[in-house]
Amino acid sequence: MAPHQGRDPIQAPRLYRELAEWYPLLTPVEDYAEGAAFYRSLFETHGRRPPRTLLDLGSGAGHNAAHLKATLACTLVDLAPAMLALSRRLNPECEHAQGDMRSIRLGRVFDCVLLHDAVSYMATRADLASAIATAYEHTAPGGVALFQPDFIAETFEPDTEMGGSDANGRGMRYLEWRWIPEEGQEMYLTDMAYLLRDEKGNAETFHDRHVMGLFPRALWLNVMAGAGFHPLAVPFLHHSYSDTGHEVFLGLRPLPGEGA
Ligand SMILES: C[S@@+](CC[C@H](N)C(=O)[O-])C[C@H]1O[C@@H](n2cnc3c(N)ncnc32)[C@H](O)[C@@H]1O
Repeated sequence: MAPHQGRDPIQAPRLYRELAEWYPLLTPVEDYAEGAAFYRSLFETHGRRPPRTLLDLGSGAGHNAAHLKATLACTLVDLAPAMLALSRRLNPECEHAQGDMRSIRLGRVFDCVLLHDAVSYMATRADLASAIATAYEHTAPGGVALFQPDFIAETFEPDTEMGGSDANGRGMRYLEWRWIPEEGQEMYLTDMAYLLRDEKGNAETFHDRHVMGLFPRALWLNVMAGAGFHPLAVPFLHHSYSDTGHEVFLGLRPLPGEGA
């Protein structure tokens, strides 16, 4: 059996566990400002209630929340304790909870619900449906849930990227290699190579495999509608994504008596 088969759909990558302290060098918080401003504008435009509260499911290091918390009271949920620790440091004024986006129930609703790139870790249709149901349960009537998978079936291209940054005497560089191990599997792999350099100049390398879901656009929209949302897809307006066809999915929760 190939290593990706018979998999646990959620295998926590090392980046979110023992390497979490390096995460802010891989993807610095400043890089999230433009995306967060766009998400805020979508919440304002499509919501039918003033956007005051936000639930971020799969909030990671809280890099989106860092740019949203000035106007939204943010509640941040993530599976990984090490990522929550980073976010608590960056966003001490926000509420944090450990939980799984497929199953957590906080027992209250929010004006805005965000499932950013973490939703890409939903590697089966069942997991995707569970995460979307969680979003619906936590979206207030008239509120908006926003989903931003890294890729859908129509936008995926096998590719490599590299990047990284330095801060406080440390540095990280990475090579990201995205590929589909088997056509028709509705998943892809992101193999990451990290090169980490500490304050003393010592360097280490690590390999980390991320298992990601890859679903067609129509499936996303159908699952959102099945959960009770009125589904919408809008172009992702961001300088890095112009002309790429990337979209953001919005789930509008109907007001009582409207139906989906
Ligand atoms: C790329 S990071 C998210 C970064 C985030 N967008 C930010 O603003 O910092 C992906 C996160 O998804 C989380 N994650 C993966 N599967 C999850 C699940 N089932 N429930 C909750 N969080 C999950 C990981 O622990 C990780 O922190």
